[in-house]
Amino acid sequence: MFGDLFILSAFTGSLGTAILSGILASRNASSSASEEQPRPGTTFERFVACVRRDEAVAAVKDKLAAYEDASNVEVLNRQNLKGVKQADTVLLACQPEWYQAIFDEPGMRRALEGKLIVSVLAGVTTQQIQSALGGDEGQYFVVRAMPNTACFVRDSTTVIETPQSSLSQSLLATAESIFRYVGQVFYVKPSTFNVCTAVCGSSPAFFSVIIDAMVDGAVAMGLNHADALRMAAFTMRGTANMLANGRDPRQVRFEVASPAGSTMQGLLALEEGKVRSVVSNALITATTAAAGLGSKDQRS
Ligand SMILES: NC(=O)c1ccc[n+]([C@@H]2O[C@H](COP(=O)([O-])OP(=O)(O)OC[C@H]3O[C@@H](n4cnc5c(N)ncnc54)[C@H](OP(=O)(O)O)[C@@H]3O)[C@@H](O)[C@H]2O)c1
Repeated sequence: MFGDLFILSAFTGSLGTAILSGILASRNASSSASEEQPRPGTTFERFVACVRRDEAVAAVKDKLAAYEDASNVEVLNRQNLKGVKQADTVLLACQPEWYQAIFDEPGMRRALEGKLIVSVLAGVTTQQIQSALGGDEGQYFVVRAMPNTACFVRDSTTVIETPQSSLSQSLLATAESIFRYVGQVFYVKPSTFNVCTAVCGSSPAFFSVIIDAMVDGAVAMGLNHADALRMAAFTMRGTANMLANGRDPRQVRFEVASPAGSTMQGLLALEEGKVRSVVSNALITATTAAAGLGSKDQRS
């Protein structure tokens, strides 16, 4: 079902550009007769990208230029208030230490009143945002979400914090729509949000390190870099597909590692390198670090 038309303003760096790209790509795809896919309920009609540097204006325009609907994106430099005033929904995608300075801009709190504010700030809780905004209950509508960089290819795994009861279903549906345009959405309890930040937000970097290391090994054994990278990435995608469809990782391991085979030799080498504790610790460390991001000093 198609919903209302909305204007989305976003603080648009790397992630914001990825999300806008994903939404624009999805609009292009759905206007093409050959591709039929369900669309989220909310249709965003116009976009405002807020940045604060001349180079960022050029970078955002350049990255979005390829999309049919790029003319529906206005890029504003140091004009956050103008951007927010136009919007129905504001995507807070600045760095976590900058949101307070943005709220402190003259007129900003007023402009945000009654609007849906979707935060992707790592480590910053809904309560922190609400208290930085001040005001009475019901004055600001904040939804916390954590997508990942795969928004660029519309394959993000986004977690949304199950909101407090005061948020209407229609606002929540609008927030969810943003991320449905760019991938899968899961709802999670506030208490697990930091670990989900590590699992969904940080893991693309972790997986990339693993692929990069595999490519090094393959190149060392004579494969060229480009082929090794594509093969490793597609193999990871195929494995991920099986696991996402319910196959147990241990089952995959047992199936591939035949007696006296080469895979078991490789698995033993992984165990010798303490791969499990290294990977688990990376996740634990990222979770703990995510929890601390919101309490960093605010920069202007
Ligand atoms: N990158 C990821 O994969 C990822 C995943 C999940 C969540 N996140 C979260 O998403 C947020 C953004 O991450 P990112 O990697 O996209 O960072 P980024 O590339 O540094 O983008 C931050 C953006 O905010 C803009 N900005 C900052 N302060 C501003 C201000 N006062 N006025 C206007 N614009 C302002 C910056 O503008 P300029 O470019 O002009 O400086 C930039 O466009 C972070 O909070 C991060 O925790 C990121």
